[in-house]
Amino acid sequence: FKWLRRFAYLSILGLVGGVAYDGYKDRHPDEQFPPDPQKKTLVVLGTGWGSVAFLKKLDTSNYNVIVISNRNYFLFTPLLPSCTTGQIEHRSIMEPVRQILRHKKAAVRFYEAEATQIDYERKVVKITDNSDIQGDVSETEVPYDMLVIGVGAENATFGIPGVREHSCFLKEIRDAQAIRTKIMDCVETAAFKDQTQEEVDRLLHMVVVGGGPTGVEFAGELRDFFDEDIKKLIPEIAPRFKVTLIEALPNVLPMFSKQLIDYTESTFKEEHIEIKTKTMVKRVTDKTVEAEVTGPDGKKSMVTIPYGLLVWATGNAVRPVVKDLMSRIPAQKDSRRGLAVNEYLVVQGTRDVWAVGDCAVAGYAPTAQVASQEGTFLAKLFNNMAMTETLENKIHELSAGLNLKPGNAAEVAQEIESAEKQLRRIKDIKPFQYSHQGSLAYIGSEKAVADVAWLNGNLATGGKLTYLFWRSIYLSMCFSTRNRVLVAMDWIKAKIYGRDVSRE
Ligand code: FAD
Ligand code: NAI
Repeated sequence: FKWLRRFAYLSILGLVGGVAYDGYKDRHPDEQFPPDPQKKTLVVLGTGWGSVAFLKKLDTSNYNVIVISNRNYFLFTPLLPSCTTGQIEHRSIMEPVRQILRHKKAAVRFYEAEATQIDYERKVVKITDNSDIQGDVSETEVPYDMLVIGVGAENATFGIPGVREHSCFLKEIRDAQAIRTKIMDCVETAAFKDQTQEEVDRLLHMVVVGGGPTGVEFAGELRDFFDEDIKKLIPEIAPRFKVTLIEALPNVLPMFSKQLIDYTESTFKEEHIEIKTKTMVKRVTDKTVEAEVTGPDGKKSMVTIPYGLLVWATGNAVRPVVKDLMSRIPAQKDSRRGLAVNEYLVVQGTRDVWAVGDCAVAGYAPTAQVASQEGTFLAKLFNNMAMTETLENKIHELSAGLNLKPGNAAEVAQEIESAEKQLRRIKDIKPFQYSHQGSLAYIGSEKAVADVAWLNGNLATGGKLTYLFWRSIYLSMCFSTRNRVLVAMDWIKAKIYGRDVSRE
C-alpha cells in the first residue's frame, strides 16, 4: 500500500512537472531564423486541419513561408458540438496559429485575411482584411512561387429558400456560440409569463436537419444539456422540450456499419430524440420547416414543422474562392465537389499549386483524418523537394570541381556517388495513400459509436465504454497540452457544477 501511494504521488508529480515544462517550453521557444526572401515563396492558405498538419511537419528553413487565413487559430472541430451547450468552453479547442508558427525553425509570416482570388497564371493571391477593424490598406496581392490551398469547405444549403436567413450552422466557433445563446433564449422565452401553450411547444422544439455525424452529435449533446441541467433548473418546461432530427435518406450516419446505425437509432429513441428519415427539407421560414416526406408506399407528402431553434448540418459545399479558381482552369471543368488533385495532391491543370483537405477532391471523405494525413504527406514532399534541390546543386558543384582538382578525383567521385544515392532515395516518394483509422461519433447519454480498424479488420462498437474510448482519443488528439488540460478541466467542471445556463 505504501509503495502504491508513493507511485501515485510520483505519477501526479510527473504529470504536473510535465505540464509545467510543456507550458514553459511553449512560452520560451528557441530563437528563430528570420524569413529569407531569397528563397522560394511558399504561400499556405488556411489554418485548418490540412494546412496546420502541413505546417507542423514542414521544414520552414527551406522556403520563405507566408500563411494566410481568415482566422488566426486552429480549431479542433471534433469537439465543436460540445461547445454548443457549454460542456466545453470554446477557447479550450482553439490554438493560436502564431503560437504554432513561433515554434518553427525559421520564422513564418502570417496575414489574417481572406483569399478572395487566386490568379494561377500571374501566381498571385488577392487578399482582403474582413475583420471589424481595418487600416488604410485592407486589400492587396501576395505573389507566390508555390501555393498550398487548404481553405476547407462551406456549409451546403442546396439553394433551399430560407436556410441562410433562419438557421444556425455548426462549422465555426461563432456558430457554436450562436447556438448556445439561442438555446437559452428559446428556453427563457418559453418560460416567459403568459406564453401561449402553442408558442411554448414551438420555442422548445429544437430541429436538426442532416443525419450525418454533425447533426447526430449535436442532437445528442443538446438532449444531454436539457436532461442534465436545464430540466433541473426550469422543471416546469420539462415535458415540452423536444429534439427532432430530420434526414433525407432512409437512415442516419450512412458512413457507419448497419449495426451501429441501428444502435444509434434505438439510443435516440430512448433519449426521446425523434428521427424523421426519408424527409427532405424544401423550405425554411422564420418559425417553420417545410419538408417532403416519402411514405412506406413511396407516396410523397408535405409536412410543416414549427421550430424554436433550427440547426442546419447537411454537409459541405465549395467555397467561392475555390469555385472561382476551378472555373478558370479547363482541366477542372468536370469537378463538382472541389479542386481535383492528382496522387501527389497537385491541382490538376496547374503548376506549383497543391490542395489539401475538404477543398481538394482526392477520392476520400471530407474528414479531419484525411485532411491531416494529406497535410503531413505534402510537408514530406516539400521537405524532399528542397533536399533534392540542395543535393542536385551539390552534385553539380562537385562535378564541376572534379575537372578543376583532378588530384582529389576519387574522394570527390565518392561524394558524388553518395549524394546521388541519397537523391534516388528521396526522389522515390510514393503517391499519397490514405490510411483509415476508423470513425467515431458521440450519440448522447454518455454513449458513443465507433467503427475502427482492428487487426486487419473492422471493429464496430457502441455504448458507455466506447464513450470513454471516444473521450480518450479526442483528448489525446487535441493540438497541444494546453488544449488537453483545458478540455479535461471543462469536462470535470461540467460534471461537478453542471453546464452554465447563463445567456451571453
Ligand atoms: P478546415 O479545418 O475547415 O480549415 C479551413 C481553413 O481555411 C480555416 O482556417 C479557415 O478559416 C480558412 N479559410 C477559409 N476560407 C478562406 C479563404 N477564403 N482565405 C483564407 N483562409 C480561408 N472529421 C473527423 O475526421 N473527425 C471528427 O470527429 C470530425 N468532427 C467534426 C465536427 C464538426 C462539427 C465539423 C463541422 C466537422 C468535423 N469533422 C470531423 C470534419 C473536419 O472538421 C473537416 O474535414 C476538416 O476540418 C477539414 O480540414 P481542412 O483543413 O480542409 O478545412
Ligand atoms: P454529411 O454530409 O455527413 O451529412 C449530411 C446529411 O444531410 C446527409 O445524410 C444528407 O442526406 C442530409 N441532407 C442533405 N440535404 C437534406 C435536406 N434538404 N433535408 C434533410 N436532410 C438532408 O454532413 P456532416 O454531418 O456535416 O459532415 C460533414 C463531413 O464531416 C463528413 O465527411 C463527416 O464524415 C465529417 N464529420 C465527421 C465527424 C465524426 O467523424 N465524428 C463529425 C462531424 C463531421
